Parts: sequence; C-alpha cells; structure tokens
Amino acid sequence: MQTREFDLILWGASGFTGRLVAEHLLRRTAAGLPLRWAVAGRNAGKLAAILDELGASRVPIVLGDSHDPRALAELARRTRAVCSTVGPYALYGSELVAACADQGTHYCDLTGEVHWMRRMIDAHEARARETGARLVHACGFDSIPSDLGCFFLQREALARYGQPCGSVKLFVTRMKGAFSGGTVASILNALDAARKDPADRKAMGHPYGLNPPGERKGPDGRDQSTPLKDADADCWTAPFVMASVNTRIVRRTHALLGWPWGKRFRYAESVSTGPGLPGLARATAITAALGAFVAAGSIGPARTVMNRLLLPQPGEGPDEAAREAGNFELRLVGRNPAAPGRRLVARVTGRRDPGYGATARMLGEAAICLALEDLPVAGGSWTPATAFGDLLLERLPAHADVGFALED
Ligand SMILES: NC(=O)c1ccc[n+]([C@@H]2O[C@H](COP(=O)([O-])OP(=O)(O)OC[C@H]3O[C@@H](n4cnc5c(N)ncnc54)[C@H](OP(=O)(O)O)[C@@H]3O)[C@@H](O)[C@H]2O)c1
Repeated sequence: MQTREFDLILWGASGFTGRLVAEHLLRRTAAGLPLRWAVAGRNAGKLAAILDELGASRVPIVLGDSHDPRALAELARRTRAVCSTVGPYALYGSELVAACADQGTHYCDLTGEVHWMRRMIDAHEARARETGARLVHACGFDSIPSDLGCFFLQREALARYGQPCGSVKLFVTRMKGAFSGGTVASILNALDAARKDPADRKAMGHPYGLNPPGERKGPDGRDQSTPLKDADADCWTAPFVMASVNTRIVRRTHALLGWPWGKRFRYAESVSTGPGLPGLARATAITAALGAFVAAGSIGPARTVMNRLLLPQPGEGPDEAAREAGNFELRLVGRNPAAPGRRLVARVTGRRDPGYGATARMLGEAAICLALEDLPVAGGSWTPATAFGDLLLERLPAHADVGFALED
C-alpha cells in the first residue's frame, strides 16, 4: 500500500464505545506506539469537545456522514486502516465497508449483526481481494474471546496431542457488565430484520450462515434454547445471548482455515448456571428473561415501553466505575480423540466489563494490528482469529487485560 496520511482513522469517536477506543489509542501512543491516527465522525464540535476532554486536541479530525459515499471514499483514501464504532451497522455501516473495500483500506468493527456481515461479505469480499483490503468484523466481546479462545485451545491441543479437539464447548462462567444504547439499538434492529426479511432471517438462523458458499454444511444444529444439564460443564446451562453470533464466527474461522479441525468438528456456547436445583432455577430464569426480551423487542407497544423506560439510549452506557468493576470468565472444554475420557480446558478471562471496558481495548488492538502489522492474510473478509490469531493472543494479555490460559 502506498504511503497514506494516516495509519488509522477511528470512525465514530463521539459515540459511547468510540470514545473508549480513543482513550485506548491515546494510552498506547503515550506509551510510545508510533501510530499516526485521526478521529472521524459527522459532528466536528462533538469530536473536538471529546478530544479536549481527553487532553488530545492535537489529534486530527476528519468529517463525513455515514451515508455520504464521496466523503467516505475520500476518508478511506487517506488512511491505511479504519476502525468503526458507528452502529447499528446495518443502518449506518454499509457505505463505509464499500469505500474501504474499494480503496484498499483495511477495516475492522464491533458488529454482532450476522445478517449484515453476510451482506457485506457477499457484496465486498471479491473487491477487497482485488484491492488488498482486509475486512474484519466482530472485533469486540462478540466475537474475539470465543474466536481466539477456540483457536488457542486447538493450538494447544495440537501441541499436546498432535491432533485437534473434535468438539469444543464454551461455557460462560462469569460475566459482569451492562449494555449501551448503541448495542440495544443494534439488537432491536436485528430483531426487526429477522421479522421482515426472509434472507436476513435465514442468514441469522443458519448455524453455518457466515461460511463461504458451498461450505455451509456440518454437524452443528440450532443454538441451545432451553435449560440443559451438560456433562462437559458438570452442571446446568442456559442459552447464551451472544451464541448466535460467536458460533457463526468460529465456524467461519474454521472454514477459512481450510477445516483443520475436521469436517465433523462441533462448536457450541452456553452459560453455566451451577449444579442442582439452584442451577436449574438460574438456567430457567435466564431462558425466560431472554424469551421475554425477544418477545418484548418484537411487539410494538411493549418495545416502546421497554426501550424508553428500561434501556439505555444511544450515547449512554455503563460509567467508569461500573466498567472497572466488571469482568468475565469463559471456559472452553475440548474433547480430543487422542485422549478419550479427558477434557482439555482453556480459560479466557477479562478484567473489565466485557461489552465496553474490555471490548474497546480488544477493538483498539485489532485496529492497531491492521494499521501497523504485516499480517499473514491477503485482502478479503476475515475473522479475528484468521486475521490476527497468534498476534492478538500475545497482545491482548499485555494491552487489554484479556488472558488465555490452559487449565491444569
Ligand atoms: N461487539 C461488541 O462486543 C460490542 C460492544 C459494544 C458496542 N458494540 C456495537 O457498537 C456500536 C456502537 O455502540 P455505542 O453504544 O458506542 O453507540 P452510540 O454511543 O450510539 O454511538 C454511535 C456513533 O455513531 C455515530 N453516528 C450515528 N449516525 C451517524 C451518521 N449518519 N454518520 C456518522 N456517524 C454517525 C454517532 O455520532 P454522533 O455522536 O454524531 O451522534 C456516534 O459516534 C453498536 O452497533 C453496538 O452494537 C458492540
């Protein structure tokens, strides 16, 4: 890529998550990272005020609207990479992906909108291959911990047993955090898309819906939707709200890698709720709450009341104390044909709330890799594990307080 004015443009720095990513980039550059970066968005005053509050008035501002293709093409031409926190992506993100694919500009985001990722891959992967643009969706809590967690466990399985695990189950064992207004808007928008558009509904419901054409078959079925007692968790489990995103990303990773874990490889996610009757009661409560949220989000008047009175609005989210008090722990349990009857277990742990404190750092690190590193993949549409794999496994513990370790 020819020399460009910036290494990275952070698109949406005035939003709740964008501002946190800006803070992360400032910490990294203050510690000596040689990153030439700018913030971008549609409101110069808001962006200038945020830079001022962060003590970073020297960071340049680039202006544009997410529905102005000319401004976005110009923005994409000025930088090696773009990091986008402007969502719901299905509403505000498509023209930017098109501009990046067309201009050979690397791109990453935080989307968990499977139907939109499917549309972007179908529309822009071919052009990105021609121009050399690396496009990487889902670089937040969905789906970096799942995607890199499974990649890490399989790497360790190969080192230990000489062969990969035939199945991996991820259990959420601890998760403390809250939603922002942008995330709520994205979930509600995805519910609308599933109701209105059969193609979107199909992409979301298909367990291999993000895989390349001709590679959408495998042994995995629908995501867990009821309480289940799971032998690998040694306890009761409930459906996990992000499973319908994360499992699709992990399966796409597997397909893009060329199916190294075997065509019969299985992957699933759920929440561990503990043993005995209390575990069953918790699993039932989580299942009921999820069902109630989906029902309320799909019915007009209930949705209006829930959204206005109970949920955060765009720009709002957990405050700093809540983000710092948050944390998460995921347990990935692998079964390996070389060690029948034994479990290989990896833990992914994060120090801050998963959706914002940890997500902003994970996205920031993904963006830095795209902007500055000579990655092993060419232009195209990649997943976090296929684009960044070993590199992020090294960097996330050091710079995002997200760790990956094997359990004894
Ligand atoms: N995957 C994960 O783990 C994860 C975690 C957190 C968030 N997210 C996702 O990240 C996205 C952002 O969430 P958030 O809570 O940070 O949202 P937010 O606070 O509502 O911020 C939205 C941003 O989009 C900008 N924007 C809206 N319309 C625009 C337009 N037409 N042109 C240019 N910019 C525009 C806003 O600019 P103004 O300030 O000018 O209005 C703002 O900067 C959501 O899609 C959410 O689901 C994902």
